[in-house]
Amino acid sequence: MRILITAGPTREPIDAVRVLSNRSSGRMGIALAADATARGHDVTLLLGQGATAVPADGLDPVWFDSTHDLATLLAAHAPACELLIMAAAVSDFIPERAAKGKLDRRDGVRSLSLSPAPDLLAGVAKRRRAGQRIVGFALEEADHLETRARDKLKRKGLDAIVANPLATMEAADISGLLIEAGGGIQTAPRHATKEEFATWLLNALLR
Ligand code: CTP
Repeated sequence: MRILITAGPTREPIDAVRVLSNRSSGRMGIALAADATARGHDVTLLLGQGATAVPADGLDPVWFDSTHDLATLLAAHAPACELLIMAAAVSDFIPERAAKGKLDRRDGVRSLSLSPAPDLLAGVAKRRRAGQRIVGFALEEADHLETRARDKLKRKGLDAIVANPLATMEAADISGLLIEAGGGIQTAPRHATKEEFATWLLNALLR
């Protein structure tokens, strides 16, 4: 099966040296790509340059930096895939303009104007062809995990969504749920490593 996986953070330039980003390590998506490759699938991994997790030799990610870069790569790679797993932590806001050169502290107080970022996943889901499956991730506060994830699944037009609590970010383990558009819900073993979770998730998605 042709599987496209996105992982890691986007980075939006503020000036020539600074970025607006998030704490995503990329570890979850890298684990999914490694496991899916070991199962013999044709896997493409789109990985954020800011990821701190390191893909094993042979995984050969296609690197992205900004949300715009990732949008361009998705436009090129998504049409051919049969399964998209969108584990990347995409920015919700983008600085309206990146300053030329390096902002100087001596110029005094600064404010940053931000525009909302496009929802890449909703865009891919809208353009999906028959037979393509689109799976998103939702990082939510533990108290509202399931309700917020169900809402996101519907709003973005996905086939399934992996819901995990905010504490997952940068952590080595994960206690997640898989919610399918038909209403089905599966709970992963608690405190799985991200590698164990990747195996569990692929078993659930590819069965
Ligand atoms: N996502 C995306 N484009 C964005 C933001 C998020 O494609 N600009 C994708 C993520 O890769 C993830 C899913 O949407 O698979 C959910 O991301 P999340 O940040 O939890 O959701 P938001 O879109 O920020 O939704 P909300 O504003 O309701 O929190």
